[in-house]
Amino acid sequence: MAEPSRLEIMKKAAGTYAADHYIKDGMTVGLGTGSTSYFFIQRLLERCKEGLNIQVVGTSKASEEMAKKANVSCIPHENVTDIDITVDGADLINPNFEIFKGGGGACFREKIIATASKEWIVIIDESKLHPTLFGTKLPVEILPFCYQTTIKQIHALGFEGELRLDEKEKLYQTDNGNYLLDIQLTQPLDSAKSTHDALIKIVGVCETGLFFDMASHLIIGKADGSVEVREAK
Ligand code: 5RP
Repeated sequence: MAEPSRLEIMKKAAGTYAADHYIKDGMTVGLGTGSTSYFFIQRLLERCKEGLNIQVVGTSKASEEMAKKANVSCIPHENVTDIDITVDGADLINPNFEIFKGGGGACFREKIIATASKEWIVIIDESKLHPTLFGTKLPVEILPFCYQTTIKQIHALGFEGELRLDEKEKLYQTDNGNYLLDIQLTQPLDSAKSTHDALIKIVGVCETGLFFDMASHLIIGKADGSVEVREAK
């Protein structure tokens, strides 16, 4: 088997730590999406095999599929109300715990699961720490109906975005059948909240990839396999 890369070591350290330290018997657990969440889910499913009794809800079909394959109880979406804890990854995070998410294409589902959770924990490798949020694209999930009008209004706010394409060069569709507009910022955001508020007001915008005032803890995986845990201020 190939040696794990530096990034994999960091992601695995963060995911494993979260599964071992934050999840307790009887909890309803939200499963994040992406390569760091993969390690969280993997360790969580191991713990279920060892006797941990939980039920889960996925932020994507891929994450849910992992749980279903391991015969862990998945709550049907129409029955989801309260979630004890959700653990999810991030694309970039600044010192104020303002986060860009949705790079893995699960923007809206990740947001609704996060807002339904009593506790929301973010797991990252060190490369995701950023002094500002300037440097990666901000995904915005938009409804397909008349989507060009939605994009026009987003552009009118001064944001330049491109629709995400899938591996067949077709318009990428989220698990909810929506499109993703990846906004390339031309300067750091003045405020995550006002940017989110401006975008979400546009009819046709389903959700933005800006997450703020949500995370209670940040778990940062390091290249030596250790973790650093930061608490929200
Ligand atoms: C998916 C996400 C992911 O959590 C984010 O892209 C981080 O992914 P990874 O852990 O693979 O770096 O927001 O929509």
